[in-house]
Amino acid sequence: MCGIVAYNGSIAAQEPILHGLERLEYRGYDSAGVAIQKDGKLQVERAKGRLHALVERLSDGPMEGTVGIGHTRWATHGEPNVANAHPQVSNDGNFALVHNGIIENFQTLKNALISEGYSFQSDTDTEVAVNLIQKYYDGNLKEAVARATGDIRGTYAFAALSAHEPDTLVVARMDSPLILGVSEDGVFAASDVAALLDYTKKVIYLEDGDLVTIGAQGYTIENQGEVVEREVVDVPWDATQATKEGYDHFMIKEIHEQPKALRDSLIRKVSGGTVDLSDSSYTREEILAFDRIYMSACGTAFHAAEVGKRALEDALGREVQAEVASELRYYMPFITEKSLVIVISQSGETGDTLAVVKEAQKRGAQVLAVTNVVGSSIDRASDKVIHCDAGPEISVASTKAYSTQLLSLFLLALDFGEKVGRYSPEEVRARVKELSEIPDTIEKMLEKTIPEVDAIAEKISKKDSIFYLGRGLDYLSAKEGALKLKEISYIHANALPSGELKHGTIALIEEGLPVVTIITQSELVEKSISNVKEVKARGAHTIVLTNDEAPEVDSVADDKILIPKTSDLYAPLISVLPQQLLAYKTSVLLGNDVDKPRNLAKSVTVE
Ligand code: M6R
Repeated sequence: MCGIVAYNGSIAAQEPILHGLERLEYRGYDSAGVAIQKDGKLQVERAKGRLHALVERLSDGPMEGTVGIGHTRWATHGEPNVANAHPQVSNDGNFALVHNGIIENFQTLKNALISEGYSFQSDTDTEVAVNLIQKYYDGNLKEAVARATGDIRGTYAFAALSAHEPDTLVVARMDSPLILGVSEDGVFAASDVAALLDYTKKVIYLEDGDLVTIGAQGYTIENQGEVVEREVVDVPWDATQATKEGYDHFMIKEIHEQPKALRDSLIRKVSGGTVDLSDSSYTREEILAFDRIYMSACGTAFHAAEVGKRALEDALGREVQAEVASELRYYMPFITEKSLVIVISQSGETGDTLAVVKEAQKRGAQVLAVTNVVGSSIDRASDKVIHCDAGPEISVASTKAYSTQLLSLFLLALDFGEKVGRYSPEEVRARVKELSEIPDTIEKMLEKTIPEVDAIAEKISKKDSIFYLGRGLDYLSAKEGALKLKEISYIHANALPSGELKHGTIALIEEGLPVVTIITQSELVEKSISNVKEVKARGAHTIVLTNDEAPEVDSVADDKILIPKTSDLYAPLISVLPQQLLAYKTSVLLGNDVDKPRNLAKSVTVE
């Protein structure tokens, strides 16, 4: 949700902390702050709004000092303002703390602290934690943080400084991502690797319960009072992947990166012309023994899950369930030790999806994760993992992650289908060949489609509402298109199965209302065209996205985007691209902050 960067080393701390926060701004961006220790004093600066507001405040003179903490926030407790920004400072001014996560029992702890004479300036749960640290401080910051975390129920990634211990930084993790970065110039702590790529690629993924003391000479990790060793691993991403590289926004860069992301993903999952998921998949016996298969995720990843469900059902000839994670986590009566739960998450940190992993495992189920972030919480918690290989996705609106999630699920379905004998090896090879050609197809389509989409975006950017229609897989693709548009353009967008229109929603169709209809499913073309006719007859502005060249489409479409033909099952991999472009261009025309849409954050670790 929020972004943490902390540093203790030999160079001035402000620059790497601000630089890291800039890289993490996509995680939260309603306020930001930094605290740096110098000569036994804590210097603290905070600002409401985007990071540049904080940078401006610091422009008169940088803070000196080589130990510091920084934070970019997505509000959970209290509105976004300076008082609620992090770092939060203790009553005596000697402790500063940045925090990601939620302290569930903060009100009880706060009441107790108030009765002991503490006062509070913010609405945050973090201010409670920093005052607990003050309360427990007895000459050792690490011990004070450990005692404070002992009182806390909830989730946290903490980074704490004390004026009493000029050379010490203490960080702690519980159910909220936190990594260490090790470089020649010192040790970093951060919420994710994007913050560190310009300084080091050597990272340590901390575990829940880890408490780390970072001193001038290095770091010590403890868990439940014992010193533990954690592996230092090399991150496969490089720093340029986390920059815009000349594009105006990360989103458009990431849209254009899809062919490459899909190729990278194929390289790692295909060998000798067929699917090779190695240990990331299950044996024939295991697949046949699963009593139920569930797929679960949130947002865009859930839209990928819904398409993946269809692919798996085709491959296995049996029912597969798809449930949003925020629901499944609280209601999974039928998941047992015989079940398989497939979760999908770009970040690997989504709180609801992680909760599904843990709850399903509690019931003894197998969990297979499809995730983009190696070392993320979901990656590490799951029994098996398929990595999407999309590279870092920075824009809040997910694009290349979605297409690589689809590809990963299609390949998983082929693997399962062949193992259970529903697909022949030749059939699998043919389908792998088709999937392998899609990156080139998309590349060519992007060039052609951009001007067509731009012209349509001009029209819809003036509207307040838009509908998306589709049947079967086209409906699932339309859902993703509508989500993309609403989250970055703020135009109301509603996706529905075309056939449902007449059961109520058609009442909303009026002169000039844009209706986007996706038509790629060969069996359903005629029926979908009838639905376009229905809305056209009521004055809608009809926009049809299709791979069918039937003249009938031309007669009903006010605007048409022709996309390349694929087999029906793989059509969402293609049809999503013009929809991503449409959302992007509309958002740009409206002057919105495309990569950081209002009220949203990239990684939703809270409920
Ligand atoms: O990191 P995850 O894939 O688990 O994130 C799930 C959703 O929060 C995410 O897909 C969200 O819907 C995107 N902003 C959509 O563009």
